[in-house]
Amino acid sequence: MSKKLRLRSFLMRSGRFSRSSEAGHEIKSGNVEVDGTIVRNPEYSVRTSSVIKISGKELDIVPLTYVILNKQKGTICQKSSGEKTVYDVISRIQKIDQKTRNSLFTVGRLDRDTKGLLIVTNDGKLERMLTRKENHVIKTYEAGLKGTVSENDLETLKKGLGIADDDTGKTFIVRAITLKRLGEKTIEIGIDEGRKRQIKKMFEAAGNEVVSLKRTGIGKMRIEDVPFGKKQYVITDKKYLDSIISGKEKKG
Ligand code: URA
Repeated sequence: MSKKLRLRSFLMRSGRFSRSSEAGHEIKSGNVEVDGTIVRNPEYSVRTSSVIKISGKELDIVPLTYVILNKQKGTICQKSSGEKTVYDVISRIQKIDQKTRNSLFTVGRLDRDTKGLLIVTNDGKLERMLTRKENHVIKTYEAGLKGTVSENDLETLKKGLGIADDDTGKTFIVRAITLKRLGEKTIEIGIDEGRKRQIKKMFEAAGNEVVSLKRTGIGKMRIEDVPFGKKQYVITDKKYLDSIISGKEKKG
């Protein structure tokens, strides 16, 4: 059955563009035809069965693809050239062809020095399901701190504290949804939103400093349950991903 999606997403799923801004530009330039009519609105609703053409050539869409990465420190989530990115790992996966690789994006971002669980996909619906705060999918991190964390600090993190947005300077109140002490200077913390450098800023606001950060959980998915073996990735499907995120099933 054909599914609805935005024109920009269709173009991204064709694997012809690696950045969403490039697909948007192509549409706004008047180069994209939907069922015989030029459409200049990237948010225009189309179906997977629609006939989309660029300069008269019809686009196909690549299959929905899901990769769970065990991100290493020192890699970035942006599709930039010149720096080591998580897409370099993807480019080594021979089972994924070039067009499909182009269509992939990360679900949220981890900082360069953060390691751990990262989902890379071309499924925008899954991305929204996992990242929208109202869906309350908890992302769990293991944070190593410079200073000792007191019970009082934990209380403050749970109650909520203000952190400033890097771009606008606006302050947001954020709080830990789950907290577990793993050591004097090691805390497991769960949050249900993904503001830039959120965990680091939360501990900064509590008067401490994060010295190491690892994402250990997305929903009910736990890093130790993902069968990475010696590899940094696992190719999976939507069913498995849904089941481990919602905790209905464990693999292995
Ligand atoms: N919070 C951070 O501070 N950094 C990350 O990479 C993820 C969450």
